[in-house]
Amino acid sequence: MQISPSILAADMTDLKAVLGQMDPAVVDFIHLDVMDGHFVPAISFGEVYSGLIQKHTSIPLDVHLMVSRPDLQVPRYFDLKPANITFHIEATDFPIRMAQLIRAQGIRAGVAINPGTPISALEPVLHEIDLVLVMSVEPGFYGQAFIETTYQRVQTLRDLIGERNIVIEADGGINAGNIGGLASSGVRMVVAGSYCFQGDGVNERVQTLKSAAGAPAGH
Ligand code: DX5
Ligand code: ZN
Repeated sequence: MQISPSILAADMTDLKAVLGQMDPAVVDFIHLDVMDGHFVPAISFGEVYSGLIQKHTSIPLDVHLMVSRPDLQVPRYFDLKPANITFHIEATDFPIRMAQLIRAQGIRAGVAINPGTPISALEPVLHEIDLVLVMSVEPGFYGQAFIETTYQRVQTLRDLIGERNIVIEADGGINAGNIGGLASSGVRMVVAGSYCFQGDGVNERVQTLKSAAGAPAGH
């Protein structure tokens, strides 16, 4: 299981220190939650701030664009050379073109899907994408409760993906208690915000999540 801590839940006034604490040998990705105040009510940060983050870490970036115009925003992240750029299926009528643009940059193309959108909406784009981000909360805030229907949705998605080489990532309300069930449903990468940045250090929290993902699951 790969872990992508969301820095939205960290102390963003002291991000240089937060990034300095994150061990590249432990933390697989840094999740960047970009919110535009339109696709979701909140505004977080954009490509300028993301560029500053990149300067202070060697950990690959996992960009999650919660924006209503991915056609305008996606290209603004190309210079950062993130590992993944993920846009929402609900936000564009041209997901295939969007994914092709991202892949042409040598960046993995991800599509995110809200809890209220049928998994079948992804079927037409699966041939052009590298990653699906299954939202396990409604997007917009960190610290929300995990939605239990996610396990079934991941299994449905796994069946739809079949033999294709596509990573399933889950995002929202994930902790040591539910990561095992996600792992056995087919999730290979998780985002964790509050869990990673509360209590003991972020590296320890990531290690705990990885061990819990490998432990026998309740689902
Ligand atoms: C929700 C964001 C998530 C969130 C995760 O809109 O996309 O990435 O920051 O935070 P937790 O793990 O606290 O739900
Ligand atoms: Zn996210």
